[in-house]
Amino acid sequence: SNRINIAIDGPAGAGKSTVARMVARALQYVYVDTGAMYRAVTLKVLESGLSTDDNASVGRLANELDIVLLPGAHSQEVHVNGVDVSSRLRSLEINRNVSYVARLESVRNRMAELQRRMAQVKGVVMDGRDIGTHVLPNAELKVFLTASSRERATRRYREIGSDADITLEQLEKEISERDRLDQEREIAPLLQASDARLIDSTGRTVDEVVEEIVQWGLAIA
Ligand code: C5P
Repeated sequence: SNRINIAIDGPAGAGKSTVARMVARALQYVYVDTGAMYRAVTLKVLESGLSTDDNASVGRLANELDIVLLPGAHSQEVHVNGVDVSSRLRSLEINRNVSYVARLESVRNRMAELQRRMAQVKGVVMDGRDIGTHVLPNAELKVFLTASSRERATRRYREIGSDADITLEQLEKEISERDRLDQEREIAPLLQASDARLIDSTGRTVDEVVEEIVQWGLAIA
């Protein structure tokens, strides 16, 4: 059967990366975590002291970055200019800044270009915010994965660990704020594509959700 491209979009903490990685493994496809790419750019912006509002300078920086995604044992490894930055992408500081960097036109153009290149050979599961609407509008299967805001915050809370200096309530607020920024930005906002299938994962297991998407994929491919 033919290999297809699968786009999985949705708000923060909906379980997109876990689900997308498992779908890719089941189909022997390549998983691409586009959020990690925006996080990597944000790390470099913060390191360089640039303002997250500076479209031109941040764009120049993004254009110079060589971002490589490698399949890791548990999650994807992200290498920027040859350095593994994976363990530094999930900090609260990056969470708080990434949506500002991600709304810059220069950054989005660059990321979309890299992402389209990665999907040229089909057999890619790509997760993000604008994959079905903007990056891969012709993806054969599009999924919009969501869950209640409390459940999404709880999942991220477990991820971050109890040592982090933040309460569940604060985290829920920050996630809602990030979703708001992602939904309200001008370029390629977070939005369910008209031809995307909606999955609300609240109260459902990861395996159930993965199985549903894999079956859809096999039916199409
Ligand atoms: O998926 P993750 O939570 O790691 O994404 C981090 C941030 O990167 C999102 O909140 C959003 O601002 C940005 N992003 C984006 N477009 C994508 C993927 C992520 O704007 N396709």
